[in-house]
Amino acid sequence: LWTPGNIIDDMVARVQEQVGDDEILLGLSGGVDSSVVAALLHKAIGDKLTCVFVDNGLLRLKEGDQVMEMFAQHMGIRVIRVDAEDLFLSKLAGVADPEQKRKIIGNAFIDVFDAESSKLNEIKWLAQGTIYPDVIESAGSKTGKAHVIKSHHNVGGLPEHMKMQLVEPLRELFKDEVRKIGVELGLPYDMVYRHPFPGPGLGVRILAEVKKEYADILREADHIFIEELHKADYYHKTSQAFAVFLPVKSVGVTGDGRRYEYVVALRAVETIDFMTARWAHLPYELLEKVSSRIINEIEGISRVTYDISSKPPATIEWE
Ligand code: XMP
Repeated sequence: LWTPGNIIDDMVARVQEQVGDDEILLGLSGGVDSSVVAALLHKAIGDKLTCVFVDNGLLRLKEGDQVMEMFAQHMGIRVIRVDAEDLFLSKLAGVADPEQKRKIIGNAFIDVFDAESSKLNEIKWLAQGTIYPDVIESAGSKTGKAHVIKSHHNVGGLPEHMKMQLVEPLRELFKDEVRKIGVELGLPYDMVYRHPFPGPGLGVRILAEVKKEYADILREADHIFIEELHKADYYHKTSQAFAVFLPVKSVGVTGDGRRYEYVVALRAVETIDFMTARWAHLPYELLEKVSSRIINEIEGISRVTYDISSKPPATIEWE
């Protein structure tokens, strides 16, 4: 019988059998899959689990603190937080090409993860949040984005010398099953049903060279958008929503002054499979509220636009 509880018991037993008394290392991103793996492995092997969370400076507002609060403080899981913002930003300096940015971010993840794990005593097992659709996608295409995504998000492309064996407890599950298991394991609903967030993070939502100044502005705008979606009860009616930083300046007025600041685009889509998507027909009142809050509360932004492109022909992300 498929119930989340049964599946969890079964997976816990399988992991225990697989690794015995050994320790496991997990790259925790804060996304649904790796979070569920963390909770599951904690249940299976307790403090023999060590997670590494890499804060690359391209995360959403306060995301790093939230991950630490939930997993380290609340659940008592050992999480090593690596503050790698400077490293990522320095590697990204001067680079505007989207695929090059993805490559740099992916490689930096692996470098940081490698450096952290080499400080730990010989851990034999590496856990990954691979789910069934990832298995199919990487089998189907060698060049597909999904493969590249997972290969950096789940740190699949680890250097040869690490030679760790894989633990992939979610390998046979679909996303909705993973979510049900997450809830059953005690993860908060809002975490488990969060919109997807790309591995390269804000790096591909800044349509220019990635700079801290831009990332800080974008984080604020994105936060306001998401907060208002929640308040208006539209967050769970959209599949993915976020702000995009446009490196163009536009004129505006505030009080008696003239402003000449940056532009953000808001993006919200409805989709089942993320292969095709329709732009979300959000209420004008909601868009108006978001726009006026962003322009009034964020100094570096003087104009807000709404993206009305569907996929295809546009993609969900702008890069
Ligand atoms: P696109 O822009 O291709 O996005 O329509 C489809 C879904 O994939 C996510 N996406 C990524 N996820 N690394 C990721 O982990 C990436 O490089 C990447 N690019 C796009 C996107 O957020 C959307 O959910």
